[in-house]
Amino acid sequence: MTAAEPLSGVARTALGVARMRAAEQARPDRLFDDPYAQAFVDAAPDTLPRHLPAPGSLPELMAFQAVVRTRFYDDYLLASCGEGGRRQVVLLAAGLDTRAYRLPWPDGVRLYEVDLPEIFAFKEGLLAGVHAAPSCTRFVCPADLRGDWPRGLIEAGFSPDEPTVWLLEGLLIYLDAARAAALLTTVGVLSAPGSRLSAESGDNVGWLREKAREVPTLARAASLWKGGLGDGTAGWLERHGWRTEPHTLAAVAGSYGRPAPDGVRSGFLTATWAPD
Ligand SMILES: C[S@@+](CC[C@H](N)C(=O)[O-])C[C@H]1O[C@@H](n2cnc3c(N)ncnc32)[C@H](O)[C@@H]1O
Repeated sequence: MTAAEPLSGVARTALGVARMRAAEQARPDRLFDDPYAQAFVDAAPDTLPRHLPAPGSLPELMAFQAVVRTRFYDDYLLASCGEGGRRQVVLLAAGLDTRAYRLPWPDGVRLYEVDLPEIFAFKEGLLAGVHAAPSCTRFVCPADLRGDWPRGLIEAGFSPDEPTVWLLEGLLIYLDAARAAALLTTVGVLSAPGSRLSAESGDNVGWLREKAREVPTLARAASLWKGGLGDGTAGWLERHGWRTEPHTLAAVAGSYGRPAPDGVRSGFLTATWAPD
């Protein structure tokens, strides 16, 4: 890592997502507003490839997924806090997510961001530099999600007795199956009845890894993919106290008036904590 490359390893993947959001922000028909994404990209000019993905390529499909999922999770979070009435939100692997600043949260929302210390070392100064002000009460909890991350969360004021809205966006694929299961087990332990969770369905992980072998520019990113629980994610959640609902990427994208390109796979899960 150099001054020109402020993020390394898996933390750098957050910058790739910021770039996809910055590209979406430039579209007149954008699915969401993220006025901060470009500032992150500009602060790391030598970290990402200069060109945007070629039409029809796997990287372009991945960008499509990242854009649609951003809007899908925006809607999930606001609905879970709005009519759902919940006021505690945790973004696990928040990366360069700026939802604390850009979404119209109801009064009283406390939002906790957990990610590696490296992310916040990059992110906090940049957000302060553009005078970004959160529209909720935001807490930053630097931690490795393979370790004792609940400690920092609870020290910051998180309450396991209150229903939580969890988001695991673009995370599980970077953990192996055992770590993903351990993380989700801890999420269950910290969840009061009525808590909600959303994450990628994992259905496409095998396909994605296979396809990525044919794309040299994805070699570095793909080397970080450990697979998570893959297409077993929904089954695991169902067996461990969550009532899940699947949402295919194609259906979600279609509902936003942005039809999915041919060959697009994957989807999302939303779930409610309802242990026996
Ligand atoms: C693809 S990015 C997604 C970031 C964010 N959720 C978004 O969609 O903008 C993956 C994120 O996972 C984080 N991550 C991966 N493994 C982690 C770990 N063991 N502990 C904490 N964060 C981790 C990375 O630092 C990175 O921010």
